[in-house]
Parts: sequence; structure tokens; C-alpha cells
Amino acid sequence: MQREGSAVKRLTLPEPRLAGKVTVEGALRERRSVRRFSSQGLTLEEIGQLLWSVQGVTGTGGERTTPSAGGLYPLQIYLAAARVDGLEVGVYRYRADKHDLEPVVEGDVRIRLAAASHGVEWVDAAPVVLAIGGVVQRTAIKYGARARRYVYIEVGCAAENIYLQAQSLGLGAVLVGAFDDQEVSDTMKLREGEEAMALMPVGRPRS
Ligand SMILES: Cc1cc2nc3c(=O)[nH]c(=O)nc-3n(C[C@H](O)[C@H](O)[C@H](O)COP(=O)(O)O)c2cc1C
Repeated sequence: MQREGSAVKRLTLPEPRLAGKVTVEGALRERRSVRRFSSQGLTLEEIGQLLWSVQGVTGTGGERTTPSAGGLYPLQIYLAAARVDGLEVGVYRYRADKHDLEPVVEGDVRIRLAAASHGVEWVDAAPVVLAIGGVVQRTAIKYGARARRYVYIEVGCAAENIYLQAQSLGLGAVLVGAFDDQEVSDTMKLREGEEAMALMPVGRPRS
């Protein structure tokens, strides 16, 4: 990890791969929600690729992989990492503009996340769990009462990007919407104004 500024240690992620062997049509054809994961961990390259697919900056004006109403980008992605080569166990905040990870919480939070998700085992068993947070207020500045609808739509777009990127990498993911918002928010230490909107355990599918 690199030491930057005060005591915060940030980790620059590997650059994303911009071509793969799986076509969009192939990923769409094969994608299924995966709830059983092998005990194998993920690589930092895979983590960088997954995070890029969901919020990576791809445009000169700061545009990202996932579309956003008015280009306001209200989503914030968190990563609960338990088994990733080269990454200490803990919760991290993805900084899209820098393509890096900022440590937020030390240690394995998956049991707490699983408990907050009615005890489902796939939250606990996955090597990583992504959390999609949304800041409705950011979009409300321009879209007022439509903002919450727009942010929910963006969460759907973001989640599908993760599903398809996981499929392309030979990984599996599942979108979990059933959880206690406050518990997830407290566990991942989301910032003020960020609401926990979706969880996505990701790992290698277990047959
Ligand atoms: C908004 C939304 C919420 C979901 N919430 C959960 C959930 O809480 N737990 C779960 O196991 N699957 C959840 N899923 C996954 C669905 O069960 C799954 O997509 C559906 O059964 C179709 O299967 P497939 O994704 O394999 O095509 C959710 C999917 C969506 C789109």
C-alpha cells in the first residue's frame, strides 16, 4: 500500500483490461446469479477490473462506465475484501477518479453483512462483497423529486455491469437487495448522505 497524506494508506489498482475473450452477447447469454463460491480468493487485477466496470472513468469529461442522470455520478462503491491476493482484509472505498482503494475498516465484516442480510450464506462465503451506495441529494440538486428514481435506476445499471464483468472474468455474482440498510451502512462505514442500496457478493463459482 502507498502512504499518501496523513495516515491514510491508499492502494492503486492495476489498470483495467480493455478487451476480453467473452463477447457482450456471450456474457448476456450465460449470466446467472451465483450463490455458491469456491474458497479460492480473487486477484487484485480482478478487483480492479470489477471496480472499473462499475464506476471506472472512461471519458475525457469524467464520464464513467455506468451511465448517470445529468452526469452527476451519485454512486459510491465499497469493497469488503476477505480473500484477495495482495489486499489486507477489510473494507475499502473505491475512488473512481484515481482508480484506487481507500481503507475504511480493518478486518473481516462478512459475518456482520450476512447477519444484516437475513443470514444468507452467500454474503458470508464470497471472497469479496461489493456494496453500492447512493447519494440521492447529489442528483436532487438538478432533478428534485425525480432524483431517488434516477439513483435507483443507476444502481440497476451498475449492478448489471458487475454481473457482466464477473461473467467475462469467469467469476460469479449475485445482487442482494434484502438487507437492513442501517446495519450495512454502519458496517461498511458509509459517509453521511450515502445510502446502502445493493450488495453484490462476487467469487469463483463452486460447482
Ligand atoms: C432488485 C433485485 C434484488 C435482488 N435481491 C436478491 C436478494 O436479496 N437475494 C438473492 O439471493 N437474490 C436477489 N436477487 C437476484 C434474483 O433472485 C435473480 O436475479 C433472479 O432469481 C433471476 O436469476 P438470474 O439472476 O440467475 O437470472 C435480486 C435481483 C434483483 C434484480
